[in-house]
Order: sequence, then C-alpha cells, then structure tokens
Amino acid sequence: MLKIALTKGRIEKAMTETLNQIGYDIKPLINKDRELQVNIDDKLQIIFAKSNDVIIFVEHGIVDIGIVGSDTLLENSFKDYYELLDLEIGKCSFAVCSYPTYNNLKLNRRKRIATKYPNITKRYFESKDEDVEIIKLEGSVELGPVVGLTDAIVDIVETGSTLKANGLEIIEKIIEVSTKLICNKTMFKYKKEEILNLVDLIEKSKSK
Ligand code: PRP
Repeated sequence: MLKIALTKGRIEKAMTETLNQIGYDIKPLINKDRELQVNIDDKLQIIFAKSNDVIIFVEHGIVDIGIVGSDTLLENSFKDYYELLDLEIGKCSFAVCSYPTYNNLKLNRRKRIATKYPNITKRYFESKDEDVEIIKLEGSVELGPVVGLTDAIVDIVETGSTLKANGLEIIEKIIEVSTKLICNKTMFKYKKEEILNLVDLIEKSKSK
C-alpha cells in the first residue's frame, strides 16, 4: 500500500479528480467528513495535511509520497526528497500585487510588503536590488494594502477574483506555480515499482 500526504483544499479537490481519472474508487474521498486519513481500494492510504506539513511527513518517511504546491516547496529550504512529477493541477502564479498607483508611489521609507512567503519575497526583491520591509501574514494577505498596513503583497493569484474584489491588481508576475508529486528518498528504493506505476498512470492521464 502506498501512503500519500495530500495538501488539503484546492489541491485535494484537483487530485481527487486525477485519482478518479486513473481508475481509483474516490467515494471515500468524496464522502469523508472530518477524517484525516482514508484508504482507497486497499492500495492507497491518504492523509490530509497543510502544505508545509506534507513536506515534513515525506521527509520523515511517514508517507511515501506528498502532493504539494511548488509555492510551498520554493518557500522551504529543506530539500530531502525527490521531485518526481509536475501534476499540472492547481496552477497559479506568484505575483507582486497592489493598487494601480503602486508604481507612482513616492515614499520616504522602504516599501512594505505583506506575504505568507517571506523567503520567496526576500529573494525576489533582492534580485531587483530593492530594499523592502517584509511583513509576514498567515492568510488573507490582501488585507495588507486594504487596511493600510503595507504598500503591496506577494501572493499566489489563481483566478484573480480576490484581487479584483479588493481593488488590487497584478503589478508584476514572479513565477508560475503548479502542484508537484514528491517522494521520500528511502521509500523510493523500497517501493520503486509501486511509486513509478502511480507516476506513470498519472502522466498518461494528463495526455488524454
Ligand atoms: C489564496 C491566496 C489568495 C487567493 C487567490 O488564498 O493567498 O488570497 O487564494 O485566489 P484567487 O486569485 O482565485 O482569488 P487562500 O484561499 O488559500 O486563503 P488564505 O489567503 O486565507 O490562505
């Protein structure tokens, strides 16, 4: 049986559809309530976790495979896993977003940027030789400019609806984000065939 840690929320929904396409009985996933772990067809054991924790479960060998956004992988510096596949689901972009007046701001202080991703934000502004103050928020990062805490945000944009609903727009795209299948290095040795078989099935379903 393969053990998988799946990021809760949007990725979970998209991955459920992928598992359906490759022939698994996804009823236990659809019908689950507050369970944190479900078994599928006696072949997959799936646990549902927050994105950062998916990487931790993979690195500690608690699961064989993790399904997690490249945003989380880019933000975290630990890299003790194999990245086996781009699932091409949950696609979105990282962007600097603000009000349309952002590029005309005249400030006598450093720009303030709100984000859930301080490492990515730091790397991005360093690459532009711009010294900014980064303020980490845990969610609804758009609140930064809306309440006047920050001048802009660095966040993921999927449909753009959250930006639009709050009068914000993309100032500059930073990088595209997708969902990756990562694998514990030791488990890859022990369960290579099973893991590659799943990767192969998902890859074939993408080209259909
Ligand atoms: C993400 C992101 C944006 C929003 C973008 O937040 O941080 O707020 O989705 O999506 P959109 O372009 O389709 O509107 P999420 O919904 O994960 O909630 P959170 O910010 O509270 O973590």
